[in-house]
Amino acid sequence: MAILSRIAAVTRNKGQDMKTSSRILASIGTGIACTALVACGGGEGSGDAGGSGGGDAQQAFEARDAYMQELGDAIIVLNEMAGEQRPVDEAAFLAAARTISDRAPDMLEYFENQTIVPMSRTKPEVFANWDDFTSKHSALVQASSALTAAASSGGFAAGRPLVVPLRDTCGGCHRPYRGPEPQ
Ligand code: HEC
Repeated sequence: MAILSRIAAVTRNKGQDMKTSSRILASIGTGIACTALVACGGGEGSGDAGGSGGGDAQQAFEARDAYMQELGDAIIVLNEMAGEQRPVDEAAFLAAARTISDRAPDMLEYFENQTIVPMSRTKPEVFANWDDFTSKHSALVQASSALTAAASSGGFAAGRPLVVPLRDTCGGCHRPYRGPEPQ
């Protein structure tokens, strides 16, 4: 209660600046700011003590984005080889499949902080429908390990038919849970 009235007082002093008040929340270290399903401000590293729900929202978003870009780079290789838009390279095909199957299990870590900053395309539905989100994640884990297993034993020829089913698991989650690109 004491903390809440302090926040109210500080917020009044600073006017209605949402970003300021969420930075204050983060610096108090309650974790409230970044578990709320709203934009978290951030970007200035407020020295939050950490904990499951706290941390620097902008940094958390950037880590998630970098993670997704890794998957994105790998799927481009798989897609283009499967679609005959780039020459088949067995080693590169297997490496791309492995990138996705190795990294896929880690995905939920990047969402557990529930961070949504203005740059983020994560929809609040992710956290409202967490069980469904995790089942879409499981589909990715399964499809990517099936592709890697096929490609390691039978190479490109065996892996190729599994590229579209893998890509469908990306889209299967992005359609409901990824919003439009920020302008
Ligand atoms: C379980 C859900 C889920 C799955 C599966 C998933 N993604 Fe994502 N992805 C998201 C969400 C949510 C975002 C938005 C993250 C943010 O901006 O906060 C995202 C963002 C991205 C981005 C960031 C770039 C941008 O601006 O859109 C890329 C690239 C990406 N995903 C690629 C992939 C690829 C490739 C796969 C499949 C191999 C995949 N994702 C599977 C949920 C998922």
